[in-house]
Amino acid sequence: MDFVRGLKCRECGREFPGEALNVCDYCFGPLEVIYDYATIAEVISRDRIAKGPLSIWRYKDLLPADSQDPVDINAGYTPLLKARNLGKKLGLRNLYIKNDSVNPSYSFKDRVVSVAATKAVEFGFDTLACASTGNLACSVAAHAARAGIRAVVFIPADLEQGKVIGAAVYGPTMVAVEGTYDEVNRLCSEVADNYKWAFVNINMRPYYAEGSKTLGYEVAEQLGWRIPDHVVVPSASGAMFTKIWKGFNELACLGLLEGVEPASFGADQNTVHHPAVTTRMHLTQAEGCSPIVTAWKAGQSQVLPVRPSTIAKSLAIGNPADGIYALRVVKASEGSAYAVPEPDVVAGIKLLAETEGIFTETAGGVVISGLKHLAESGAIKPDELTVAYITGNGLKTLEVVSDAVNPLRVKPSMRSFETALKEREQAAG
Ligand SMILES: Cc1ncc(COP(=O)(O)O)c(C=O)c1O
Ligand SMILES: [Zn+2]
Repeated sequence: MDFVRGLKCRECGREFPGEALNVCDYCFGPLEVIYDYATIAEVISRDRIAKGPLSIWRYKDLLPADSQDPVDINAGYTPLLKARNLGKKLGLRNLYIKNDSVNPSYSFKDRVVSVAATKAVEFGFDTLACASTGNLACSVAAHAARAGIRAVVFIPADLEQGKVIGAAVYGPTMVAVEGTYDEVNRLCSEVADNYKWAFVNINMRPYYAEGSKTLGYEVAEQLGWRIPDHVVVPSASGAMFTKIWKGFNELACLGLLEGVEPASFGADQNTVHHPAVTTRMHLTQAEGCSPIVTAWKAGQSQVLPVRPSTIAKSLAIGNPADGIYALRVVKASEGSAYAVPEPDVVAGIKLLAETEGIFTETAGGVVISGLKHLAESGAIKPDELTVAYITGNGLKTLEVVSDAVNPLRVKPSMRSFETALKEREQAAG
């Protein structure tokens, strides 16, 4: 069983039953899951979590799906690495990488899709669908295969090969739309009105988005039930960013963090802020698609849509559904929002690979260059505990770093090898 009480409109506060709904039919505001936290508080403990499976389902009490038989390909429980080399380069002594690029379909999307797919099966849907910037399509196709149901994934036609093939291999119906992600998403909203499919990020969105809270829980657990001073997070729709914050605050309110007294969730569960949660939330986007950063810099509470033109295709959402809520989290956490110049995206990918041996995709390049900016500008102090979230795998965006390939070309002889090696070393000075 789960501890879901239902859904609630974030704008007008009206409550709805826990069904496949995402929009308030009264004010068109987005719906969010609400929980029976009083009962959760009675059952949850660090010990109970520690005895759970090595996946996101160890936090089942805080997830909106009945976990008896989840659609599970083992999302989550990914490494948190102390980044000594990168830290040294950036002047940070307490830097960690949350390496979510090693999920089963190679991005954090497995967390959200595992929850959405479980819920879709619970509701009796026979088709799992999505509008995707790439990683989501891979994850939806993989989880549908696991659940034995049909997948229909909609993607912009110009995606990287690693994402197209990385989704196609699971056998979904793939729809390549000649347009931007925002156009794909609009089409999917229409399709969702006409077909009884579980669109993970449309009619299943309230459940789906909750899966990202596990990115907060896991980091806290891996740090010994402490939360970081800073986190650096990539943003497209803004959903994951808001859910990491929510995850930290839930743990604090439930008394699961070291030295933190439990507190009430108050009138609005979705804006709860425990005073002990002092993590500064830093949102990063690539300059060619940075509507949330632009709004933050202009001091606006609304996000104006843009037409994306960025190398970071996984983050290319011009009209972010959770943009306004992400802005509120930046403000509440006294964090920041930064747009990474386009050339710095690839520089960030290479910096992480060369210092820590982790190969991330463009979204991770955005995070690492954003982190570098925060360290150099003094926003993050040398001893502050900082976690950079690496959410996708570099093997899916090989195109952007193909210039790294420059092998010594030799004949199969010692002489040829040594001549070539000497030449290369001389050229490098
Ligand atoms: C690798 C990666 N990181 C981050 C994000 C951003 O997630 P959100 O839309 O929740 O902001 C995406 C979105 O597709 C992604 O693919
Ligand atoms: Zn409403």
